[in-house]
Amino acid sequence: MMSQPTNIAKARNKETSEIPQGSPPDTPKLMPGGNYIKIGRDSARSTCIVFAPLAEEVGALAKCLNIFEKHRVNLLHIESRPSTRNLENYEFMVECAPTGNLPKAIIEVKENSEYFNIISRDYKDNKDTVPWFPGRIRDLDRFANQILSYGAELDSDHPGFTDPVYRARRKYFADIAYNYKHGEKLPHVEYTDEEIDTWGKVFEQLTTLYPTHACKEHNHVFPLLIQNCGYRKDNIPQLEDVSNFLKDCTGFTLRPVAGLLSSRDFLAGLAFRVFHSTQYIRHPSKPFYTPEPDVCHELLGHAPLFADPAFAQFSQQIGLASLGAPDDYIEKLATCFWFTVEYGLCREGGELKAFGAGLLSSYGELQYALENKAEIRPFDPPKTAVQKYPITEYQPVYYVAESFEDAKEKMIKYAATIPRGFGVRYNPYTQSIEVLDSKPQIQSLVTNIGTEISVLVDSLKKL
Ligand SMILES: [Fe+2]
Repeated sequence: MMSQPTNIAKARNKETSEIPQGSPPDTPKLMPGGNYIKIGRDSARSTCIVFAPLAEEVGALAKCLNIFEKHRVNLLHIESRPSTRNLENYEFMVECAPTGNLPKAIIEVKENSEYFNIISRDYKDNKDTVPWFPGRIRDLDRFANQILSYGAELDSDHPGFTDPVYRARRKYFADIAYNYKHGEKLPHVEYTDEEIDTWGKVFEQLTTLYPTHACKEHNHVFPLLIQNCGYRKDNIPQLEDVSNFLKDCTGFTLRPVAGLLSSRDFLAGLAFRVFHSTQYIRHPSKPFYTPEPDVCHELLGHAPLFADPAFAQFSQQIGLASLGAPDDYIEKLATCFWFTVEYGLCREGGELKAFGAGLLSSYGELQYALENKAEIRPFDPPKTAVQKYPITEYQPVYYVAESFEDAKEKMIKYAATIPRGFGVRYNPYTQSIEVLDSKPQIQSLVTNIGTEISVLVDSLKKL
């Protein structure tokens, strides 16, 4: 549930059909989100306005702030910075609460600005508004307030639904993820003997298949995870150890997540090379079944691939393409994610191998996918993006990537077709997204690329 976009929330391991039905009489009713979720918080409904006043003059900001005051719009946050679009001017970003007459204030500020952009969660009825997306890595902290359902909520057909001990444990995991903030140490968890036993069963079964069924990248990284991160039958690795390992390899990091994220938020994390990961484990009564992603799915299926540079780039491209994209394209990108990062196949020397985490964490489907029983098609984003798929049974269609590099190039081409009035680039030094929508910014980028090329040419000469 937690680590996948909304429409790929329910999945995995269909090796069982015995699922308890109905609501038990003695099960305590958990409030959705406990005391944590405050739907409609101002920060979730706020509107961000980025503007550069018409002419730089003393008091330009004060003049604009007076407009907000006049229309009784409360400001939650104000930032100023030198404009990257007009090097002689300053830009201001104000975050407005949904108070007063915001539409009138917006019109008036726009009239007094040479650059103006609105970024809002509440964008659906306004074509000029760009859907909000995180600009800095710490903005991902906001997602915790925007989860669609809390990790402690279980459906009545969940194997742990009638187990108060398991439910309490799930709440514990959801709470530590909810309270996590960017920059903090990832929470260490003491897993119980029963949880370690469940992990051991899954670990033992899947690792027998990896040498023959997993792609070479997965098989290359897996022994390194055993050596460096405590991947063993009798130990559930800590997210922090795995995250630190990935950071050393590709800059990817794991972030615990307390509940179901929207596709938009989940994909946005990938733009920062951040993967939202669950930390709890499936119910012990069904070690080979889970109706949602758990720590086995994340650490056995996803984590090894994020250590591969080309796969990391491919995943980040999906994330970057999603920033500020219209809703229908978010769905298309989530579908591309489904058929690659979750269920992707690749070809190695004429043989099919799996790289999708949904396959690499399911003993049954990993074998099924390579048995040529399902339809196999080449990965082609415009077509793959509109393919429908089931979420509770084996996939009828799998897509094959020629290589991660090839898949990445195809995603970049596809992303260029998404209607969006600006380009985006991730700046790893500042861990922020640069919105590219002016000549000076692009000139500066070209200069930087020129410097990189000089380094390459110089190195080549020395070879
Ligand atoms: Fe997943």
